[in-house]
This record gives sequence, C-alpha cells and structure tokens, in this order.
Amino acid sequence: MFDFEKYGIEMWPEEKIIRFRKALLDWYDEHKRDLPWRRTSDPYAIWVSEIMLQQTRVDTVIPYYESFLYRLPTIQALAEAPEEVLLKVWEGLGYYSRVRNMQKAAQQMVADFGGKFPETYEEIASLKGIGPYTAGAISSIAFGLPEPAVDGNVMRVMSRLFEVDYDIGVPANRKIFQAIMEELIDPERPGDFNQALMDLGSDIESPVNPRPEDSPVKDFSAAYLHGTMDKYPIKAPKKKPTSVFYKAFIIRNQQNQFLLVKNQEAGLLSGFWTFPLMEDVPPHPLSLLEVAEEREETDIIAQFEQEYSLKVIWEEGVFKPVTHVFSHRKWHIALVSGVVENSEQLIDEKKEYAWISSDDFHHFPFAKPQQKMWQAFQEGKIITDNR
Ligand code: ADE
Repeated sequence: MFDFEKYGIEMWPEEKIIRFRKALLDWYDEHKRDLPWRRTSDPYAIWVSEIMLQQTRVDTVIPYYESFLYRLPTIQALAEAPEEVLLKVWEGLGYYSRVRNMQKAAQQMVADFGGKFPETYEEIASLKGIGPYTAGAISSIAFGLPEPAVDGNVMRVMSRLFEVDYDIGVPANRKIFQAIMEELIDPERPGDFNQALMDLGSDIESPVNPRPEDSPVKDFSAAYLHGTMDKYPIKAPKKKPTSVFYKAFIIRNQQNQFLLVKNQEAGLLSGFWTFPLMEDVPPHPLSLLEVAEEREETDIIAQFEQEYSLKVIWEEGVFKPVTHVFSHRKWHIALVSGVVENSEQLIDEKKEYAWISSDDFHHFPFAKPQQKMWQAFQEGKIITDNR
C-alpha cells in the first residue's frame, strides 16, 4: 500500500471512505449535468468526448462532439478520414495533435484489436494519445473498471480534502493523487464516481470563485474544516507564453479572391490553410533608431513580394491587431492588405496556395487565429492612414 504518512497524508478508515462515496454519489445523482456523452455506453463516443474535454470547456465541446460523431461515426471512419476532414471536424478546438493522435489510435484499433475498442486499462492506455487520465476515464465510464481519472480538477479536490502539501503542477506528484483516488474510488460505480468529481471540480470547487459552502463533501474536507481552503491546491504560477510577432498578408486579386497558403511545416497549425504569415520584428524595440535599422534589414513587405513573386498595390491604414494565445506562445498579428493585378504571376513550387473567394472559405480548415484575422479584416481599418 502507498505510504501516505511519508507525504503527510492521513488516509481515512474504510467506514469514512464508504460515507464519502455515498455523499458524493447521492449529490451526483441529484445534480449531475445532462451531457450527451453521458447518454451513451459506446466507448468510441466516450473516447471522443474525453479527448475533446482535455483542454476545452464542456459548453464548447458539445456541438463539436455531435458533429464529430455525425461525420465520423465509427472507428473505421476515423481511421480512414482524409487530413482535411480531420482538421475540419476539429477546426477551432485547438491542440490539433489530439485529433491526429486519435486517427493513429483508430488505425491501431483496426490493426491490432479487430476494429473494436479494447476493453482493458492496459490496452486502452497503449493507444496513441491516451495517457493515464483518459485511460482511467474511458475504463471507468465505458467499461465499469475501478480506475481513477486524475486530472487537475481531481487533484484540486483531493488536495483540499487531505491538505496535500505537494504541488499539483509537478508531474512526479501525480502518483500521490492517484494513490488517494485508488483508495476512495467506488468499485460499484467508478465511472459515476470519477464524473462526480469532474462536476464538483469544474463548478463548486472550481479554481475561480469556488463555493465551498455548497460542497456535498465539505464535512470531509480537512482544508474546509481547518479554514485553509485558500492555501490549497499548492500550485506554482505558470510561465508566461513567449510572444511572437507576425505580419499577415490579406491579398486580393481582381476577381476578389484571397490568397491562402497551406502551412506545410510540422508543429503548430500544420496542415491548416492561412493568409500568408511572416514573422516580424517586435513593434517596440529599444530605440527608434533600432526600429529603423531593423526595418531596413527585414523589409518584410518587400520580402513578401519577392517570396511570392507578386506585385501588390498596398492599401493604407491599420487593422485591429489580432492576438492568439497557445500554451507556450502568444501570437501578435498585424494585418496588411493589398490588391494584385495579375494573380497568375504567383509561382512558388514549394508552397501549396490558392486564390479563394470568401464564400468558399468554409471548404478549407481554418484555425482560430485565421478566423480572427478574417474577422479583423472584415471589421475594416481602425486607422485609415499610416502617416
Ligand atoms: N471533463 C472531462 N471528462 C468529463 C466528463 N466525462 N464529464 C464532464 N466533464 C468532463
């Protein structure tokens, strides 16, 4: 058994654990949220929901979940889907490696598990993109296995229940919360137990504006009883994302079609279509002189015309800047716009590009930053003159 004492944790006696399970599940039975993935026992659908919910809020996930299952209703359909369909069903959700990994996992199921969803924790955890949290969630919810699903929400709740003095953001500490959950989880209703903690952690025990008075398990919570709720969970502040600056080129031709390119680089937003983007210098270097020097060095507008072999008639004015935060990066995008007389002259064999009317944008996967750029462009100039 896990050495709780070593970590300053007093594990409850069996009798208290049984009372805790009952208090939590009685509350869940009365208050549980009616969510679409709670009306199915199909492991494929439950998996889709759990992957979407990893980094995205429930309200946002619901419509994506439904359209994903409509477009790709089976493991086979997902395994065979073309990249454009994959990106389209995930468009706007972010963290696109999630859906790429799902396709690889579906292909694994076809190759190794006869096209069926595997039914043991170890097999589920062997699938691409499925870590211990998701393996625990699927095993318990879809197959009734007594496996904990430990995420940030659960660690927050556990750290308050037991006044755990270990940082929930440090991966090595996860084993402490896993061990607590292995003691507490209800072997009769593990899926409901895990989901009750998810509901509790995302509402009454949320990181912002928690309502500890309303908690169905407040009488079990050491932090609540000792008045130390503010101290838990222990969590070091996150590092700020690094800023990166871009110019986005919104270029039209005489037919009012816009230049889009496909991002062929691996990594962030790979495979998505975008208005051409080029990295730019930050707008506030130390001195004006430096700005002038840097600008000369990287005259980005000229660089664009050269790279795309285009002669552009540039338009004056400034659009609202677009920002987008990824987990480790913050993009700052300044839009520039212009018109070309002869779009046929564009030749760049290395790039996949297209001139597309805005009515046809919906055929192309557009990630959030691209959607924001299009919106800023449509809203028009906020300053009409550059001088
Ligand atoms: N977050 C992650 N999984 C969830 C689930 N099954 N229900 C509600 N919120 C969740």
